[in-house]
Amino acid sequence: MNELFSIEGKRVLMAGGARGIGGGTARYLARQGAQIVTFDIRDDLASQVAKEATEEGPGRVTFRHVDILNPDEITEGVEWAVKELGGLDAMITCHGGPLLSPAEETSLHDWDWQLQVNSRGTGLLCQAVFPHLKEKGGSIVNVAAGGALKDNPIHTASYSASKGAIISYTRTIAYEWAKYNIRCNCVNPVVQTERDTELMAEMSPEDRKEFEGKVRNNIPLGRFGDVQTELAPVFQFLISPAAKFITSQIYGVDGGLLPSR
Ligand SMILES: NC(=O)c1ccc[n+]([C@@H]2O[C@H](COP(=O)([O-])OP(=O)(O)OC[C@H]3O[C@@H](n4cnc5c(N)ncnc54)[C@H](O)[C@@H]3O)[C@@H](O)[C@H]2O)c1
Repeated sequence: MNELFSIEGKRVLMAGGARGIGGGTARYLARQGAQIVTFDIRDDLASQVAKEATEEGPGRVTFRHVDILNPDEITEGVEWAVKELGGLDAMITCHGGPLLSPAEETSLHDWDWQLQVNSRGTGLLCQAVFPHLKEKGGSIVNVAAGGALKDNPIHTASYSASKGAIISYTRTIAYEWAKYNIRCNCVNPVVQTERDTELMAEMSPEDRKEFEGKVRNNIPLGRFGDVQTELAPVFQFLISPAAKFITSQIYGVDGGLLPSR
């Protein structure tokens, strides 16, 4: 491989790692020779991913239980991960997700969960890795969502707000931390994961029909993407030397569904 795109030996922290985007990405990055620590709360699944990815190699995945709702666990988890990895080069945050409800019915629980896991959690993770990246620089990739930039037909007002916060936050730290050569970008994916299957099951028949019409059947490239072959390589690019002049950008890895301006 052109060494500009190589991430061999890169030390990567990933929030999320039990399944879906995080699980698939951890496996992919390990195949590229990266050293990874994942944070998640699904211990059995995340440990299994770490074990299998490490066995496959040549990189290594180590799992640590960190509840992103708990600020102390984030701080302690990051310190532990940096020791385990012997330093840090990059972080990819792909934890959390959506809770669906009509805007006028969003409960306090749903607001709090989404803002605390998605938005605040991402911010606290960035704050916690900052001291470890500021000497030599590094790359932060935060997973947001296209719904933060455009209306979404499946009752995601509060979720979209929590993801919009990630985009605003990422662009601001990209500016503030550029002097430390810390690059910060967002990715808005549309890929098939277990969570999508669950969400489809949670939708009313009307919502499902609207989702099929406005999202699933409206992707210009005609389908949802694949985590390991179509999304994880974009993360690889963004943490590789090939992207060393890219910061403060939003990448739609979504088959052309949504504008990512
Ligand atoms: N799948 C898509 O097409 C898509 C589209 C847009 C955005 N996203 C975003 O990508 C991310 C991953 O989505 P996914 O489809 O892989 O979903 P997923 O549910 O499979 O993965 C989310 C992971 O986050 C973990 N998690 C949840 N709460 C946590 C907490 N408090 N502490 C630590 N870990 C926690 C879960 O255990 C899980 O492993 C989410 O932020 C989601 O909003 C996904």
